[in-house]
Amino acid sequence: MILDLLKTRRSIRKFEDKKIESEKIEDLKNVALLSPTSKNKKGWEFIFVEDKESLKKLSEVKPQGGKMIADSALTIVIAVEDSDNDVWIEDGSIAVAYLHLACHEMGLGSCWVQIRNRKYDYEKDIDSGNLVQELLNIPTNKKVLSMLAVGYPSEEKKAYDLSNLKKENIHIEKYNK
Ligand SMILES: Cc1cc2nc3c(=O)[nH]c(=O)nc-3n(C[C@H](O)[C@H](O)[C@H](O)COP(=O)(O)O)c2cc1C
Repeated sequence: MILDLLKTRRSIRKFEDKKIESEKIEDLKNVALLSPTSKNKKGWEFIFVEDKESLKKLSEVKPQGGKMIADSALTIVIAVEDSDNDVWIEDGSIAVAYLHLACHEMGLGSCWVQIRNRKYDYEKDIDSGNLVQELLNIPTNKKVLSMLAVGYPSEEKKAYDLSNLKKENIHIEKYNK
């Protein structure tokens, strides 16, 4: 049941120094390409990065919340064509969510690293997405949405307990205060 998977899914930011088997990486490529898109546009691009030097550089494109990329075995960069697609953010986000959950099902840990609307330097107006584009030769019409840091987990996190969920956020028939 998918609820069991969802209950134990957590963001993992500490990774073992261990390569991911190529079969698992091939499965993740298929997961990405199986994610649905509005009007079936499939405007996303997935850049699979394992090179240690590139991972180190990617870990530095925003000051907070991306450092774990340096220790990931794999980071998947998600970029989406935004012209003629007003839901490119949704299209890309669904793919990231699929990948995040698939990693967990495969025994891998992963963490979403936000790039859209994030800056390397806010005063100098240096955009994190532009830095990623430059580092990985991503064309400017493909907007970098996020990166998913992936690796074998070296931290354990508690599963969610259904009795603690924010049940007040569920409304039946009408919004009830
Ligand atoms: C849209 C989005 C952006 C996120 N960006 C980051 C990020 O830049 N860095 C990070 O460490 N975690 C990031 N996270 C992970 C959240 O912090 C995490 O999902 C949340 O704290 C709940 O923890 P859990 O995933 O373990 O349930 C992001 C999650 C989402 C959905």
